[in-house]
Amino acid sequence: MRLACIVLAAGEGKRMHSLVPKVLLKICGRPMLQFVLDTVEKLKPERKIVVLGRHAVEIERALRGEGLCFVLQKEPKGTGDALLNAREALDGFQGNVLVLNGDMPMITAETLKRFLRLFRRHRDTLSVLSFLAGNPSSYGRIVRDDSGKAVRIIEDKDATEEEKRIQEVNSGVYGMESGILHLLERIRLNDAKGEYYLTDLFEIVVKENRKAGSYCIGTGDELMGVNTRYDLLKAEAVMLQRIVRGLIDSGVNVVDPGSLYIHSGVKIGIETVLYPNVYLEGTTTVGRKCTIYPNVRIVNSSIGDGAVVKDSSVIEDSMVGKGSEVGPFAHLRPGSTIGLNAKIGNFVEVKKSVIGNRTKASHLSYIGDAVVGKDVNIGAGTITCNYDGVGKHQTTIEDGVFIGSDTQIVAPCRIGKGAYIGAGSTVTKEVPAQSLAISRAKQKNFEGWALKRRHRVHNSKSKDKGGE
Ligand code: UD1
Ligand code: CA
Repeated sequence: MRLACIVLAAGEGKRMHSLVPKVLLKICGRPMLQFVLDTVEKLKPERKIVVLGRHAVEIERALRGEGLCFVLQKEPKGTGDALLNAREALDGFQGNVLVLNGDMPMITAETLKRFLRLFRRHRDTLSVLSFLAGNPSSYGRIVRDDSGKAVRIIEDKDATEEEKRIQEVNSGVYGMESGILHLLERIRLNDAKGEYYLTDLFEIVVKENRKAGSYCIGTGDELMGVNTRYDLLKAEAVMLQRIVRGLIDSGVNVVDPGSLYIHSGVKIGIETVLYPNVYLEGTTTVGRKCTIYPNVRIVNSSIGDGAVVKDSSVIEDSMVGKGSEVGPFAHLRPGSTIGLNAKIGNFVEVKKSVIGNRTKASHLSYIGDAVVGKDVNIGAGTITCNYDGVGKHQTTIEDGVFIGSDTQIVAPCRIGKGAYIGAGSTVTKEVPAQSLAISRAKQKNFEGWALKRRHRVHNSKSKDKGGE
């Protein structure tokens, strides 16, 4: 059976009080409308139409998806008017039309498929997907007649006290025959809200003696409409639970599921352990058998198999090679690539640098705009002075170099293969391979000096006392 999907996303979203268009607000890192489109994609419809309004350009730019057809609803005159605007994009299409609200990110393809099966099996011209809401006040209610047949959908604003008590509500998902779309023109303006309600189509179809049905097959967690910031939080909590549950089921070890924050689309290999308060965001991937200790945030980064990220570290737009160790309290800033079995230890910051295999920077260092080779030892407190107040400069440290503690390397600078830098040096010139560079002042010892000084101080103090 031919299928077209239409997503209504042209509303103003006023209840959200947001500067960002409502359907672009994110849930676990992804715009809520993107979730709906990704779900629709799974149904493999012949046409995918998205109705957008005032923020059309911005929304269109933010979305991914192949073969999406965007339609403009010039003014937000209600869901009925929105669907009417999509009609043109359906030109020549005959078959089933699935209509969804753009603010229902939790909907799953399984539920939509089940709903479509019911719609088709009952040979309805219009079906609505409903659910039982604990608090139905923000939804349209499904009104059934004495025989139990659904006859209309009434919006909260227009409902009588009795109707308000109905718990079966409209999810905003409809199945319809393309042949009834002309009936949209019969929807009258709702005076209370100044909008054309798509929900009114139900009664129109029933009065036409065509088959219409309401199928109560979903749950509030899945079908909730996101209208307010509080709804957004609720949706994110449910989504997070889904994501974490999916990871656990796929073989990830989780110490405290409720404390994790993981974006949709993050990938984690089996037997990786996530300790509490781990944040994995954006396009992050974590390999197999990794350990991510508490309070770590990893954004748009990849962590190789068997790597360990110790407590309170931040990794942004970077790559960590297999078997490497980062942290505790380390910061990998954007553009850092850490090789295999390397170590970036306590209080080490790396920015836009490449760190070779087995290289170690174990304590208190800043490595910025540097290319560091293999098997390099970077002593505690080493700093690449990459900024001269005007521009950034590159440091190159070749394979096998040993850098003594508390060294500053003033960039641009190259340290040749296998060289040694004496502790406490300020290196400003190129260091040739296999040589020693040392730039600290020579040490002088003045024997007995300390003892003499103490005598001097003691004598002057007793003199002062005598004078009182
Ligand atoms: C709507 C339904 C309500 C249902 C609820 C489910 C109507 C009149 N009411 O109410 O019965 O229980 O969804 O969540 O349909 N939109 C447009 N153009 C517009 C107005 C809205 O495209 O002019 C889009 C919005 O972007 C949104 C969707 O339609 O994605 C629903 O609009 P919204 O204002 O959120 O409707 P609700 O009041 O939630
Ligand atoms: Ca809504």
